[in-house]
Amino acid sequence: MTWTEPSPTGTALLLLGRGSDPSSERGVDCPGELPAPSDPTLVARAAAAKAALGDRLFILGHHYQRDEVIQFADVTGDSFKLAREAAARPHAEYIVFCGVHFMAESADILTSPAQRVVLPDLAAGCSMADMAVLGQVEDCWDRLDEVGLAEGTVPITYMNSSADIKGFVGRRGGAVCTSSNAERALRWAYERGERVLFLPDQHLGRNTAVLELGFSLDDCVLYDPHKPDGGLSAAQLDAAKIVLWRGHCSVHGRFTVDSVREVRERVPEVNVMVHPECRHDVVLAADHVGSTEYIIRTIDAAPAGSAWAVATELNLVRRLGNAHPDKRIMFLDRTVCYCSTMNRIDLPHLVWALEELVAGRVVNEITVDADTAHHARVALDRMLALS
Ligand code: 13P
Ligand code: SF4
Repeated sequence: MTWTEPSPTGTALLLLGRGSDPSSERGVDCPGELPAPSDPTLVARAAAAKAALGDRLFILGHHYQRDEVIQFADVTGDSFKLAREAAARPHAEYIVFCGVHFMAESADILTSPAQRVVLPDLAAGCSMADMAVLGQVEDCWDRLDEVGLAEGTVPITYMNSSADIKGFVGRRGGAVCTSSNAERALRWAYERGERVLFLPDQHLGRNTAVLELGFSLDDCVLYDPHKPDGGLSAAQLDAAKIVLWRGHCSVHGRFTVDSVREVRERVPEVNVMVHPECRHDVVLAADHVGSTEYIIRTIDAAPAGSAWAVATELNLVRRLGNAHPDKRIMFLDRTVCYCSTMNRIDLPHLVWALEELVAGRVVNEITVDADTAHHARVALDRMLALS
């Protein structure tokens, strides 16, 4: 990936360098005949399969998906909007989720048992979601219980977590949140308890607690599942308003205060806008912080000629640049990086999944067991009721 300065017309250009084509990240096996990426009929094949399935099919596309995939989405959105859209499609027999595993699990939980949710590539996971494993979270809860704090603690999990973790949270009176409603979810939690256990993204938890709820950094403690007792004493847990899980996003964690400083020097009138999964110091240095939907709305409403350095996933930033040639949209950091797991969903996998559905075979189905789904649904419904 190479970065170029904004063009003379004011359009930021992000050019793919040879060898950095995200399709080279492909390589995961799928149980069947995957079309060749070079097949010139892929677009026509996807369109034909989609037309053949008609209203039986609904395709959801997260904002971080590739252009080649997003063109086939019936709706695009952030994880919150997509969860609502999945829940609002009771008549679609097949939900094809172009996003990552935890999103497809949530879609399965929010849809009826007769509806089938398909993730075109099962390797499309999320490194952040993988940082909180059920056994570790249960150990953390046991520790809170041991020191007499579990009762006053409300667990909140970011959407970017497995169904197991959502189920855990639902069982213990907690809720799911996304980056669009983390503030509301935290306020909801503090009406029910004096402390929050926030899973698995420490940055979203810290940024929301400090910047939206007015807590101090000292009110936040970091629970490290790889240390005995999470690395925290009973007194530290007792004094905390929010116990943050030591998880982070490998994409958003790359942005630094230096990249903010550098872009401000290079483009003095620039507005810096970051996703709340970025580190706290980066968010403090930025002008705007918000979810992917917020980022899109803000750029849509921005005046022509304005300059924006955006810290979120590259597919979205590049699409914003293409959609707004009258504005200068640039990626915040020069070490440009896609979310490699979001990028797993490519046109060959989409064509393969759709053609299998046309042939009457449901491949890569995502199912959550009934008990987990029940409790995870409780936590998801609490989130949906917040809005
Ligand atoms: P949104 O909640 O903004 O969709 O973000 C999801 C995500 O994976 C961000 O990394
Ligand atoms: Fe997970 Fe980060 Fe990718 Fe979002 S961008 S899916 S949080 S790894």
